[in-house]
Amino acid sequence: ERYNYGMIGLGVMGRNLLYNIADNGFSIAGFDLDEEKVKELQDGATSEMKVKGTATLEDFVSALETPRKIILMVPAGKPVDAVLENITPLLSKGDIVIDAGNSYFKDTNRRVADLASKNLHFMGMGVSGGEKGARTGPSIMPGGDLEAFHLLQPMLEAISAKVDNEACTAYMGKDSAGNYVKMVHNGIEYAIMQLISEAYDLLKRGANLNNDQLYQVFKEWNNGEMNSFLIEITRDIFQQKDSLTDGSLVDQILDKAGAKGTGKWTSEQAMEIGVSIPTIDIAVTSRILSAYKEERVQASQLYAKNEIKTPENIELFIQEVGDALYLATLISYAQGLALLVKASEEYQFEIPLKDVVKIWRGGCIIRSVLLEKFYTAYSKDSNLSNILLDQDISVIVKDKINSLRKTAAFAASNGVSSLGIQTALGYFDAYTTESLPVNLIQAQRDYFGAHTYQRIDREGVFHTSWQTATH
Ligand code: 6PG
Repeated sequence: ERYNYGMIGLGVMGRNLLYNIADNGFSIAGFDLDEEKVKELQDGATSEMKVKGTATLEDFVSALETPRKIILMVPAGKPVDAVLENITPLLSKGDIVIDAGNSYFKDTNRRVADLASKNLHFMGMGVSGGEKGARTGPSIMPGGDLEAFHLLQPMLEAISAKVDNEACTAYMGKDSAGNYVKMVHNGIEYAIMQLISEAYDLLKRGANLNNDQLYQVFKEWNNGEMNSFLIEITRDIFQQKDSLTDGSLVDQILDKAGAKGTGKWTSEQAMEIGVSIPTIDIAVTSRILSAYKEERVQASQLYAKNEIKTPENIELFIQEVGDALYLATLISYAQGLALLVKASEEYQFEIPLKDVVKIWRGGCIIRSVLLEKFYTAYSKDSNLSNILLDQDISVIVKDKINSLRKTAAFAASNGVSSLGIQTALGYFDAYTTESLPVNLIQAQRDYFGAHTYQRIDREGVFHTSWQTATH
């Protein structure tokens, strides 16, 4: 008897996704270069699951029904190419290889073309939700060949998270659209995490809240309109005790942030195709800056700050920080979604924005109740270029903007670093300004470099021979 699916890469993510597939009644074979992992796979399977660990790639391939449907869950980059090199000679016409890792979209385009020349399908598929999500229901972002997608669709719908009985998976567009959407998901993830960390800092150092109080605040936030996965886990983090000391674990964690690259790719992409996503950019660069720990210690001594002026009304302050976080988060989604709109044109992905926000409502790291409102917005107008232009969204924005301004002002005047909050506000103010002062930049460019400018009162391209002022 042949197996419906195959999984290569039996690390935690691969194994959990495999069990999830098996739980839903599909039979699946697994392969990993590490024999231990193959053994662990068998050991962890329940008797109802039709699961088989295979010792060689040959056994693996011949265990699968055709057309073969093989999911890769291996680290992005060289490991994916290495697997493809070994496996493609063993495959036959029409077989489908699905890369479920965080692969760079341009790598996927290259692999799609390479496998197509061998009559094989290659698809990039974003999977979000971490280890737990993979096991119990992630958000799944597949893209590429539509016919190949249709063969996978029933399985993907079965294993993904559900919101209102609707599966958190949908076709994300042509070529590497699946990887692209996942990349932008991660960019937004970086921005939201940055913003939450700033809100935490403001509450901790501005309002002197301890971890128990922070837990209470995040709990309340999560029970209301700010309900989201990232707020929820932040709430829990404040409750976690440290096993090595008596205090909270969060207070013992070194303030240097790691990154694996998807956030950086998002920013690079935005620069490459000309989309403004400053809050995501700043989230990437803040992680970089956080790593200068020793220099920051030195500089903090050289530039000692005044004591933070505790706000008079703490309750009000907490509420404003919450509203600021909510709006800055909304603005971060707006930037990421605007990048998807542009990328869809630029690369002819044909990304259905409405489906993107729909499947982000559950399973993924950036899931939040806010996405329901975006889903409504795109349901009204699927061509919306920026979520901030939607009438209903504008009502929310207008309701919260003063809190964002007050929070940004508090942070700035007290020397509390708040790069994410400031850029979210700065983006909003620039985006909503009819006349920006870049007329002056155009004048300067033309002055020193004859780069020309356009006029507001007539068509054409102009150049002036600018005069040096005489006095
Ligand atoms: C997800 C996460 C996942 C992973 C990130 C972390 O959607 O499940 O985004 O893909 O946790 O790659 O990224 P960094 O290590 O760069 O923070």
